[in-house]
Amino acid sequence: MRFLPRLVISAALGIATFLGWRLLLQSPTTGQGGDVSPKMKEGFTLTLDTFLHVQQLRKKRLRAFCSQPGRVTTLPRSQEERAHLLSSLRVSTKLDLLYCQVPSTGMEGWQQLLGKLEEKENVTLQVPIPYPQSHALETRLSEFNLTAIEAMLGSYTKVLFVRDPFQRLVSAFMQGMGGSPSFSSFVQDVLDSGQHNARENWKPLVSLCRPCLVQYDYVVMFGFLRQELGHLLRRAGLPADIPLREFTDTQVRWTYSWLSEQMFSELSLQQKKQLSHFYRWDLSAFLFSSSLLSDLLSTPETW
Ligand SMILES: *[C@@H]1O[C@H](CO)[C@@H](O)[C@H](O)[C@H]1NC(C)=O
Ligand SMILES: *[C@@H]1O[C@H](CO)[C@@H](O)[C@H](O)[C@H]1NC(C)=O
Repeated sequence: MRFLPRLVISAALGIATFLGWRLLLQSPTTGQGGDVSPKMKEGFTLTLDTFLHVQQLRKKRLRAFCSQPGRVTTLPRSQEERAHLLSSLRVSTKLDLLYCQVPSTGMEGWQQLLGKLEEKENVTLQVPIPYPQSHALETRLSEFNLTAIEAMLGSYTKVLFVRDPFQRLVSAFMQGMGGSPSFSSFVQDVLDSGQHNARENWKPLVSLCRPCLVQYDYVVMFGFLRQELGHLLRRAGLPADIPLREFTDTQVRWTYSWLSEQMFSELSLQQKKQLSHFYRWDLSAFLFSSSLLSDLLSTPETW
């Protein structure tokens, strides 16, 4: 019975290779095409109204999640604790932007985009406090002092990238992390090592990005980045005439939905239940349509 899943995975890999590994693994790209067309070649055009409406819904859900007791909502006084808590948060002081850096959520394309924007901008934006112009990309929020962090959290445009936790897990496995021979043993390793020892590739987004402490202005969803980021850039007052072709997540999403179902079927019921418990906060803070794990959350109220 182990033959069939493997056959299916092999077929998936074949398709993935056909689409290009770049799509599946979202690794940084170096190719520079000449496509600057703002028109969407594939999929749909998202209107501004729909974009704003969807943002309201996502933030409403997040606020409901954050109103539960026990959420981290304040900045620690100690520098060390802050460094730990804010370790995934990055800022661009040049663009007045803050974002949470999580692998496999579209980050590579986003950082390339910011690089291009920073080149373009030449410091025309108003910076609330005169920060030294350090190399802005990948600057850690925790490098700044408390006063500066508070100012940035208050005034910067804050962006959170989210992706279905199970798909993040599949992505980590496909990238060969953990070195497990099968997906099921990889999942078992993840479960056994627990939340605290989880690598950022599969650690829950709520733990990495602290969405109850950082009041994100935009929650963007993997699978819709190309559509959503155009509106986001314009709303944030950034040049939106930049090509968004690095964002191939729409195609990746379809491959992954299919691949995820195959891999999910390799897991035992126990593992599935433990995984949905492992990701219970992400599943309640964000709405992932058709997430394989959300149906298994038996008692969603017991956080
Ligand atoms: C940015 O600055 C550089 C050098 O200061 C200049 O050559 C370039 O034209 C500027 N770009 C824009 C978009 O203003
Ligand atoms: C915080 O850092 C800013 C520069 O980044 C500096 O001007 C300010 O004096 C610092 N504040 C404290 C309390 O150290």
